[in-house]
Amino acid sequence: MKEIANNIYWVGKVDDRKVPFHRLILEKGTSYNAYLIKDKKTALIDTVDMLFGKEFTDAMAEQMDLMTLDYIVINHTEPDHSGALGSLARKALNAKILCTAPAVYELMEMYKLGKERFQVVTHGEELSLGERTLVFYETPFLHTEETMVTYLKEEEILFTCDIFSTHVADSAHLRISELPEDFSILEDYDTYYQLIMDPHRRYVLPMIDVVKPLPLKIIAPSHGYVLDKDLDTYLSVYESHALESKKEISALILYNTMSGNTKKMARMLENELVKEGIKVENINTEKADLEEIYGKIQKADGVLFGTSTKYADIPGNLEVILKELKDLEVEGKPAAAFGSYGWSGEAVEVVEDYLKAAGLRTLRSSDIIKSTGMSDIEFPLRVRFNPENSEKEIKKAAAVFVDVLRY
Ligand code: FEO
Repeated sequence: MKEIANNIYWVGKVDDRKVPFHRLILEKGTSYNAYLIKDKKTALIDTVDMLFGKEFTDAMAEQMDLMTLDYIVINHTEPDHSGALGSLARKALNAKILCTAPAVYELMEMYKLGKERFQVVTHGEELSLGERTLVFYETPFLHTEETMVTYLKEEEILFTCDIFSTHVADSAHLRISELPEDFSILEDYDTYYQLIMDPHRRYVLPMIDVVKPLPLKIIAPSHGYVLDKDLDTYLSVYESHALESKKEISALILYNTMSGNTKKMARMLENELVKEGIKVENINTEKADLEEIYGKIQKADGVLFGTSTKYADIPGNLEVILKELKDLEVEGKPAAAFGSYGWSGEAVEVVEDYLKAAGLRTLRSSDIIKSTGMSDIEFPLRVRFNPENSEKEIKKAAAVFVDVLRY
């Protein structure tokens, strides 16, 4: 336990392995920072990686009677932070698990916990611990949909889980104020942003809008260093990257084609997007390097996937790419399916199933009707034979996609 403020303790785990993480190897290791707040009520903020779950629970049991733990706050469900919840909740039987609504089902399934253990918190909700107050703010998709941050109002400490983190294992220093004067973490901090947050950049500015007005003395993330000085500098790294990415909106069009009609659709969509000032890359996947494609999908603000239909299925290698989507950190990214067909056009629907399964923000007719009142736009965009006969529909679909990219 290390005290970071009055009766607030770091109780995490430093992991100095080369850590395999989201298709990366974290060469400098990382840490899983959890925090214990002692007040009239006791609250734990996040836990540690699943690999260290039992070790964490045993260490906590040595420090306190776990039956006196009142709350376990889960800001983010990924197992590098919620990993000790299963073992801990079975020993801290009086503790309520505080999380957002979408997190409940995930945590129930992951750790086989009953619904009665959970207490859903909503954006801006406050919870008194006695002398001090927790306030919860939803920050979706940073890093996954159910994510929130927790603010300890009287101490002006913000517990941000993945946000404002750094992947560095440093057992000797916890706060940046403990580091030598000439040592900067900015390069590692920026690398973390690029790797983990940039794919979700459209959600960064809404998060900054929530965080910036809060009086802040400490930002306590769940990887790497606790930020206890120069907070404006660290906030501005996120803000400036997110603002920069808004200046130029990019779309990626990936397609296969049998007779040339889906390629023609891809060109027509490209032309419409370019007219609206969107930067477009239009790629026939058969001729592309798949690893490069994965990088481009992550970078683009939105992706259109086009396919023709062969024997009721997706021809070529597009399906290989679609299967990879769930590992590419693209949840919430706008996407839509399109394609030309001759008989039934099932492949376009299959593409959409993949997009939905990977958590992309898939454009669907029902959503467009609800959000715009426009009922004559069909997504996924299916065109029979030559798309030149469907120019009006393609233009309208492109316009909706532009609106979603800009929103
Ligand atoms: Fe550090 Fe999204 O987990």
